[in-house]
Amino acid sequence: MSRSYTFPEGFLWGCATAAYQIEGSPLADGAGPSIWERFAHTPGMMHNGDTGDIACDHYRRMRDDVKLMAEMGLTAYRFSIGWARVLPEGTGRVNAAGLDFYQRLVDTLLEHGITPMATLYHWDLPEALDDRGGWLNRDSAEWFADYARVCFQALDDRVPLWATLNEPWVVTDGGYLNGVLAPGHRNLYETPRASHHLMRAHGRAVQVYREVGQHQIGLVVNIEPKYPASDSEADRAATRRAHHYMNRQYLDPALRGRYPDGLREVFGEAWRDWPAEDMALIAQPIDFVGLNYYTRAVVRDDPHQYPTRASAVRQPGATYSDTGWEVYPPAFTDTLVWLKERYGNPAIYITENGSAFYDPPTVEGPVLFDPLRQDYLIKHLKACHDAIEAGVDLRGYFGWSLLDNLEWSLGFAKRFGMVHVDYATQKRTRKGTSHLYQAIIESNGAALASARPVYGTGHPPHDAGNAAAVDVS
Ligand code: BGC
Repeated sequence: MSRSYTFPEGFLWGCATAAYQIEGSPLADGAGPSIWERFAHTPGMMHNGDTGDIACDHYRRMRDDVKLMAEMGLTAYRFSIGWARVLPEGTGRVNAAGLDFYQRLVDTLLEHGITPMATLYHWDLPEALDDRGGWLNRDSAEWFADYARVCFQALDDRVPLWATLNEPWVVTDGGYLNGVLAPGHRNLYETPRASHHLMRAHGRAVQVYREVGQHQIGLVVNIEPKYPASDSEADRAATRRAHHYMNRQYLDPALRGRYPDGLREVFGEAWRDWPAEDMALIAQPIDFVGLNYYTRAVVRDDPHQYPTRASAVRQPGATYSDTGWEVYPPAFTDTLVWLKERYGNPAIYITENGSAFYDPPTVEGPVLFDPLRQDYLIKHLKACHDAIEAGVDLRGYFGWSLLDNLEWSLGFAKRFGMVHVDYATQKRTRKGTSHLYQAIIESNGAALASARPVYGTGHPPHDAGNAAAVDVS
């Protein structure tokens, strides 16, 4: 007898996006610039010189994009709010026209029966605040609290799910340590400081929410489980360091009130002890954990790797996506079970999960074949179901991403969308994954039992030379 993959009643089926990656029109209607404008317009920072100036033009095509979501059968949608649209100077004056965009978005979602989840910070700090030190400034927690209050007051009557920060680890590792994301700093000493201030900001926003909000609020983290490459003590210690740095740095303080001891070893003299009142602020009770899961890492000791002295080992025979990430669904289940066990069975939403693979660029017709992405979706949803059977309180899944979009400094080259975007014309074309996802949603998961990726007419999906010949009729 085949297994049943039905999900719990009320499970949310969504897609996720982020403001700078899709909206375009960054300075429209009185918005201020964010650090991503500055970063993307700095020569050499972005692949191919790409910017978010137009991106998916979602700011102007929002209604059509919501219609597309409805057509796909989505029951939920996770978007982020551009802080500098709402507060052009980062604090103080509210730009009603900027806020209005999100009001209209939320109303349009609700008209289509789609539940909104809003993220307050998906990496686009107002430039004016970066000029005051950005996340290195201890005042950032108050700036964020003021901004959060404006958003809650305007939208909480219609938005039942809120996330404070998206992936603080990426904000600091990419933005303050390795310089590959805005604001492009490379400084070990700044990194734990920026992290800590982000977490204080998270705590303050949760406090404000308890004053003015009626629904649920959580924190979104990216977890990449670490497995040792061998049994050697050196590899196991490296695995521990990498795990503390990436996976426990934010959840431990938020859910258990203290940083993991391993961070001292990772950051060395750049680490410091933070006041007890900060730790209490950070540990405000939250309603759910948002998990972004993409891949795992098999780790070995590597003295040259900064700051963890650990690096990932490529797995022979494994499938890797276009971002170089191993496809390894069992680690998704492991991560969910780990979250349940370590943090006392919190409610969890998968706030992002997905894959970038090569898509044929010029296909005529309504369906675009993307078998590797479909395979990824099927296996990862099954892994979620395994976790639910193991007792994890999983309440929803948001695929990354609705549309192909600006993959930050990797530009438009990496396509994560369930829907293809032709950037020259802004035409949206549904990929096979979006049809597959629709069938899964309509059956509340049951269709997973017989779901198979569709391989078109036998042309290998990675063979660009053959792509134009794929028959989609
Ligand atoms: C981020 C997204 C990003 C995705 C794929 C996550 O780190 O939240 O903005 O596009 O992963 O890299």
